[in-house]
Amino acid sequence: MNKVNRGGLEGIVAGQTRLSTVGIDGVGLTYLGYSIEDLAAHAGFEEVAYLLLYGELPNANEFASFINRLKMKRGVPASLKTVLEQLPASSHPMDVLRTGCSALGALEPELQFEDQYRAAERLLSCMPSILVYWYQFQNSGRRIDVELDSETIAEHFLQMLQGHPPSELHRRALDVGLILYAEHEFNASTFTARIVASTLSDFHSAITAGIGALRGPLHGGANEAAMELIERFQDPETAEASLLEMLARKEKIMGFGHRVYKKCDPRSDIIQVWSRRLCEAEGEQHLYDVSERIEKVMRREKKMFPNLDFYSASAFQCLGIPTPMFTPLFVLSRITGWAAHIFEQRADNRLIRPSADYIGPTLRDWLPMDQRCILEQ
Ligand code: ACO
Repeated sequence: MNKVNRGGLEGIVAGQTRLSTVGIDGVGLTYLGYSIEDLAAHAGFEEVAYLLLYGELPNANEFASFINRLKMKRGVPASLKTVLEQLPASSHPMDVLRTGCSALGALEPELQFEDQYRAAERLLSCMPSILVYWYQFQNSGRRIDVELDSETIAEHFLQMLQGHPPSELHRRALDVGLILYAEHEFNASTFTARIVASTLSDFHSAITAGIGALRGPLHGGANEAAMELIERFQDPETAEASLLEMLARKEKIMGFGHRVYKKCDPRSDIIQVWSRRLCEAEGEQHLYDVSERIEKVMRREKKMFPNLDFYSASAFQCLGIPTPMFTPLFVLSRITGWAAHIFEQRADNRLIRPSADYIGPTLRDWLPMDQRCILEQ
């Protein structure tokens, strides 16, 4: 069978990676040999970021120095602040991140590939600042200080957004969310970033392209679409009735299904526990109950399981994060996976340039313009 004809490159092995395994035997996720369950239970997001960027977990000295470097790189250049202030309040925050990343690439270009680690750390540290600086300026007219002394990226983001340090529950919940989103083999946005890197283009171009690919609702945008669905319903009964109608109309339910996992998405079980915990703590039990009922109906009617995006939606909502910031949060984490793949691609590069089966017209004669037939309107 010609595999290409199945469309979407399903099942096609398009290269090698040592960064993660996804869905071996239909289940399971590992980052450089560590299971996602262990990382979510024991690591902080910055340890996982270090693992992905540098290939090993950091020792105490390496970790302290990494945290320190990230803290020093949070500032947004004045000219970039001016750019952000020009972007309308109606912009989607993903447009802001895409623009911010591209602008930073012009202001602080990667001059040679040896700069790639510096560029990755800078983006990892600065992208939360870019996002929340724009958000606060457009929503409250305030030019916030982004160079806070918060210890972690989760704390930094929540403090800039909410104006106070987060509770331990919120900090850790977001930390786990970031760990789960960090890396996922040859998904659409990572593959996009690798294609750009394979042309020997610069780091910021590859990340900017990744952001563009992530934005769509079939990929990262699904967490926002899932929230829009969940918050439509006040109780599980209404949710079930509505969902059955949607399925009868053959609508896709965002946050369900996966190209690679066949039995479950291991990240979903982890974020579901956090969603339940947060919904209870924040008095938003109905959000969890509605989500759980949607899951039950999807399993019963379609034999489909939730992916990471589904329970992330209610978890992020309980953290007080506006829905349009959900996919941007995915970016703030996935920068690590994208960066690691760019490094890996560059270390053993060959231009990624597949072929296509031609299905267009056979060879035809050139016609001058006055001899071409006029199409009826
Ligand atoms: N709801 C209802 N039906 C679905 C869903 C869904 N979420 N997902 C797939 N199906 C159905 C399709 O309608 C199709 O049915 P058909 O064969 O009768 O036409 C069949 O399952 C196969 O679907 P495809 O879209 O071809 O499967 P593919 O492997 O290409 O898609 C994808 C995987 C894109 C994730 C898909 O399941 C989907 O669109 N899900 C919703 C979007 C989503 O949640 N994306 C997040 C992905 S995970 C992440 O980025 C963290």
